[in-house]
Amino acid sequence: MKKVLALLAFAGAAHAEGNVEAGRALAETCLGCHGVAHYVNTYPTYHVPKLKGQHAEYIVEALKGYRSGERAHETMHANAAQLSDQDIADIAAYIASIK
Ligand code: HEC
Repeated sequence: MKKVLALLAFAGAAHAEGNVEAGRALAETCLGCHGVAHYVNTYPTYHVPKLKGQHAEYIVEALKGYRSGERAHETMHANAAQLSDQDIADIAAYIASIK
């Protein structure tokens, strides 16, 4: 049991803590495009990847990539440009929590 707690503490220290409630509000615009039911229909001319259930780490990496321009995509750069590291952690925690 002690070992498990130590591992959890380590995992927590390695990542900024995401706040699911804060992320829910921040993700509202995101889900207009990445919404579960309409994720292809909103923009019928191109595919919008589904985010629901995506791992938080993956979302954080993707958003930081778009924010820095490392991952080039005009639309997503515009969406990620204003986000702080904490915003990104919150959004990722929320999206990862959607069942
Ligand atoms: C105007 C529509 C639109 C909005 C709004 C939008 N996105 Fe996106 N998003 C896209 C498209 C299109 C892509 C695919 C880009 C590419 O090909 O790299 C994408 C890609 C992503 C990816 C990478 C997914 C993958 O599978 O690699 C993440 C993560 C993501 N968006 C998160 C967000 C978040 C979080 C927000 C809100 C802050 C947001 N998006 C707002 C259209 C949108």
